[in-house]
Amino acid sequence: MLKLSSLDPVALKCKALAIPVAEDKSLHQNRIISSTIKHIKGYKEFTGKESETMTVYDPKRLNAKRIFLFGVGKAAEIDTEKLRTMAGKSIKKAIAFDLTEVVILIPSAKALRLAPEEVISAVGEGARLANHQFDRYKKPKHQVLKQIRLVAEKPFLTKHRTLINQLDAVCGATLLARDWVNTPANDKPPAVFARKVKQAAQNNGLKVEIKDEPWLKKQGFKSMLAVAQGSNNRPRLVVLKYLPKGAKKTIVLVGKGVTFDSGGLNLKPTGAIETMKCDMSGAAAVAAALVAAPKRKVKHNLIGVLPLVENMPSGKAFRPGDIIKTWAGKTVEIGNTDAEGRLILIDAIAWAVDSFSPDITIDMATLTGACVVALGEKIAGVFSPDDKLADNLVKAGRETHERCWQLPLPEDYKELLKSEIADTGSIGGGRWGGAITAALFLSEFVKDIRWAHIDIAGPAFLKKGGPYGEAGASGFGVRLIHRWLDTL
Ligand code: BES
Ligand code: ZN
Ligand code: ZN
Repeated sequence: MLKLSSLDPVALKCKALAIPVAEDKSLHQNRIISSTIKHIKGYKEFTGKESETMTVYDPKRLNAKRIFLFGVGKAAEIDTEKLRTMAGKSIKKAIAFDLTEVVILIPSAKALRLAPEEVISAVGEGARLANHQFDRYKKPKHQVLKQIRLVAEKPFLTKHRTLINQLDAVCGATLLARDWVNTPANDKPPAVFARKVKQAAQNNGLKVEIKDEPWLKKQGFKSMLAVAQGSNNRPRLVVLKYLPKGAKKTIVLVGKGVTFDSGGLNLKPTGAIETMKCDMSGAAAVAAALVAAPKRKVKHNLIGVLPLVENMPSGKAFRPGDIIKTWAGKTVEIGNTDAEGRLILIDAIAWAVDSFSPDITIDMATLTGACVVALGEKIAGVFSPDDKLADNLVKAGRETHERCWQLPLPEDYKELLKSEIADTGSIGGGRWGGAITAALFLSEFVKDIRWAHIDIAGPAFLKKGGPYGEAGASGFGVRLIHRWLDTL
């Protein structure tokens, strides 16, 4: 779907050519392209300011039927996110005009303060991610494009083609995660979601095991089973393995997979419950990241662990005040049945660490509303006792624009989790610092390993669409994890 070629953009016959235009400088080496832009700018109706757009039909001297000009602001201020945005807008415009393909002209890296690889990846990502609609339940008004061509003026090296294939794999996986999360809870109870994941994983050459409830009982996943017990839809644990030859490191990725979080007996109120099909976004991101691993030829062993449950109130549901056991043997007094994510994670993490002895463990979870209060809807919270690991995740977040911010794990806050009658309480009690106390609770079960927790409650599911994504599931975490894996 995504093709990179180095062609003469003037001779190129196409229905639509999208061109990024800066305010103060030409971004293209081709003289005819530059003089066409200069000519249009002469009318003063389009100046290249950020978010300005203009369509010109039958431009003189070009073979394109129409050109879409996209203002990207001052050349020195153009970053990869502005390029993703420009590419995403090109695709959305072409879709709205019922075109079947679009050609995007890649700006010259020399004119920007970016490496050619960064320019190509950013344009490719924005375009690929924008060319998607969740159409399982309603016929969309417009169809997505059949083809996107990225055209660069200079001859491109083979390594740039590889780059396109790689980002195609990661973006494809991101879109898969979006589709899983957007699927309503009635169509993805744990057993069904597990099967969907298995299919995608097997198609991509991963090893997959689905563990059912008798297995979970036998193994002693007591804390996870306590959350699951209120629902008629029985839990599953999915284990995905990518084990390339010669791998030196093993990374365990755990994803919270609550296919619907009603809150349980502490039922969520109207206004908070409606979007809770998104509570398996961590599991979706982990599964999708593994699905992309073979195509991206990731060098490390990856183990994905997905605890899948539905959190429902019923006559069988667990209660506030219940004391439950965990896989690791500690007892937990339940403070609130809506704090269920941490209970499935501690069993999955402790079991995975014991089973696979990973070098690094990362969990991703839509864990707390408090994290959304702290960082808003677009930034995830990163918690780790290992500052270097946290820094690397934050850096990967900056580069992918899946932004993360490190939050602390203060020892003295552990006091808030204390229970009089069990080894620990499940929640912090008071109103404040809920994202931190949740992370501290997890930390009590992952002692002495390199571990990071990413709270994606904000960015996993968006009220408003962006330039390269629709409202709803964002697929947050897939690109982040892959970028981070590249730094290991
Ligand atoms: N799934 C929610 C967190 C969430 C909130 C995800 C908003 C996405 C958007 C989680 O299980 C939850 O309900 N957490 C509670 C914990 C509290 C009861 C200690 C919360 O954050 O309110
Ligand atoms: Zn909850
Ligand atoms: Zn939840």
